[in-house]
Amino acid sequence: MPRVIYIHPNGERDEVEVANGQSLMLAATANDLNGIVGDCGGVMSCATCHVIVDDAFAALLPPPVDTEHQMLDYTAAPREAGSRLSCQIVMTDALDGIAVRIADPQL
Ligand code: FES
Repeated sequence: MPRVIYIHPNGERDEVEVANGQSLMLAATANDLNGIVGDCGGVMSCATCHVIVDDAFAALLPPPVDTEHQMLDYTAAPREAGSRLSCQIVMTDALDGIAVRIADPQL
Protein backbone atom coordinates (compact mmCIF):
# COMPACT_ATOMS: atom_id res chain seq x y z
CA MET A 1 0.00 0.00 0.00
CA PRO A 2 1.17 3.56 -0.60
CA ARG A 3 2.53 5.45 2.39
CA VAL A 4 2.00 8.90 3.82
CA ILE A 5 4.46 10.69 6.05
CA TYR A 6 2.71 12.95 8.54
CA ILE A 7 5.03 15.56 10.01
CA HIS A 8 3.91 16.83 13.41
CA PRO A 9 4.42 20.41 14.59
CA ASN A 10 7.29 19.23 16.83
CA GLY A 11 9.05 17.64 13.86
CA GLU A 12 8.21 14.04 14.70
CA ARG A 13 7.11 11.90 11.80
CA ASP A 14 4.58 9.12 11.48
CA GLU A 15 4.59 6.92 8.40
CA VAL A 16 1.23 5.31 7.67
CA GLU A 17 0.12 2.92 4.95
CA VAL A 18 -3.07 4.20 3.32
CA ALA A 19 -5.36 2.26 1.01
CA ASN A 20 -6.00 3.74 -2.41
CA GLY A 21 -9.19 5.77 -2.31
CA GLN A 22 -8.92 6.69 1.38
CA SER A 23 -8.46 10.33 2.34
CA LEU A 24 -5.44 11.44 4.32
CA MET A 25 -7.80 12.82 6.99
CA LEU A 26 -9.50 9.47 7.50
CA ALA A 27 -6.17 7.65 7.51
CA ALA A 28 -4.86 10.00 10.20
CA THR A 29 -7.90 9.71 12.44
CA ALA A 30 -8.10 5.93 11.96
CA ASN A 31 -4.50 5.72 13.18
CA ASP A 32 -5.15 8.05 16.15
CA LEU A 33 -2.63 10.61 14.96
CA ASN A 34 -2.70 13.82 16.96
CA GLY A 35 -3.30 17.09 15.17
CA ILE A 36 -5.80 16.21 12.45
CA VAL A 37 -9.27 16.57 13.91
CA GLY A 38 -11.64 16.13 10.99
CA ASP A 39 -14.69 17.39 12.88
CA CYS A 40 -17.04 17.45 9.88
CA GLY A 41 -16.16 13.97 8.67
CA GLY A 42 -14.77 15.23 5.38
CA VAL A 43 -17.52 17.41 3.93
CA MET A 44 -15.40 20.58 3.87
CA SER A 45 -17.22 22.46 6.60
CA CYS A 46 -14.72 22.52 9.49
CA ALA A 47 -11.17 23.13 8.19
CA THR A 48 -9.74 21.09 11.09
CA CYS A 49 -7.87 18.76 8.77
CA HIS A 50 -5.45 21.40 7.49
CA VAL A 51 -2.10 20.15 6.20
CA ILE A 52 0.71 21.68 4.20
CA VAL A 53 1.77 19.46 1.34
CA ASP A 54 5.42 19.07 0.45
CA ASP A 55 6.26 20.93 -2.79
CA ALA A 56 7.33 17.75 -4.57
CA PHE A 57 3.84 16.29 -4.23
CA ALA A 58 1.67 19.39 -4.37
CA ALA A 59 1.79 19.42 -8.16
CA LEU A 60 0.51 15.83 -8.29
CA LEU A 61 -2.74 16.72 -6.55
CA PRO A 62 -5.85 17.85 -8.34
CA PRO A 63 -6.41 21.55 -7.71
CA PRO A 64 -8.75 22.45 -4.85
CA VAL A 65 -12.40 22.95 -5.73
CA ASP A 66 -14.02 26.29 -4.86
CA THR A 67 -15.34 25.08 -1.49
CA GLU A 68 -11.90 23.88 -0.41
CA HIS A 69 -10.41 27.23 -1.46
CA GLN A 70 -13.01 29.03 0.64
CA MET A 71 -12.49 26.81 3.70
CA LEU A 72 -8.72 27.28 3.52
CA ASP A 73 -9.38 30.94 4.29
CA TYR A 74 -10.86 29.87 7.66
CA THR A 75 -8.12 27.61 8.98
CA ALA A 76 -6.87 28.27 12.51
CA ALA A 77 -3.25 28.32 11.34
CA PRO A 78 -2.37 30.72 8.54
CA ARG A 79 -2.85 29.44 5.01
CA GLU A 80 0.40 28.64 3.20
CA ALA A 81 1.22 27.96 -0.46
CA GLY A 82 0.93 24.20 0.05
CA SER A 83 -2.14 24.30 2.31
CA ARG A 84 -4.83 21.72 1.61
CA LEU A 85 -7.67 20.03 3.45
CA SER A 86 -6.48 16.48 4.07
CA CYS A 87 -10.06 15.22 3.73
CA GLN A 88 -9.79 16.15 0.06
CA ILE A 89 -6.49 14.36 -0.62
CA VAL A 90 -7.36 10.89 -1.82
CA MET A 91 -4.60 8.32 -1.80
CA THR A 92 -3.31 6.84 -5.06
CA ASP A 93 -0.20 4.87 -5.94
CA ALA A 94 1.23 8.05 -7.51
CA LEU A 95 1.22 9.68 -4.06
CA ASP A 96 3.31 6.97 -2.42
CA GLY A 97 5.66 8.71 0.02
CA ILE A 98 3.75 11.99 0.13
CA ALA A 99 4.80 14.17 3.07
CA VAL A 100 2.29 16.48 4.71
CA ARG A 101 2.97 18.82 7.61
CA ILE A 102 0.13 18.98 10.11
CA ALA A 103 -0.94 22.59 10.64
CA ASP A 104 -0.94 23.88 14.20
CA PRO A 105 -3.34 24.83 15.63
CA GLN A 106 -6.39 23.22 14.01
CA LEU A 107 -9.02 24.79 16.27
S1 FES B 1 -12.61 17.15 7.77
FE1 FES B 1 -13.76 18.99 7.86
S2 FES B 1 -12.94 20.17 6.26
FE2 FES B 1 -11.78 18.34 6.20
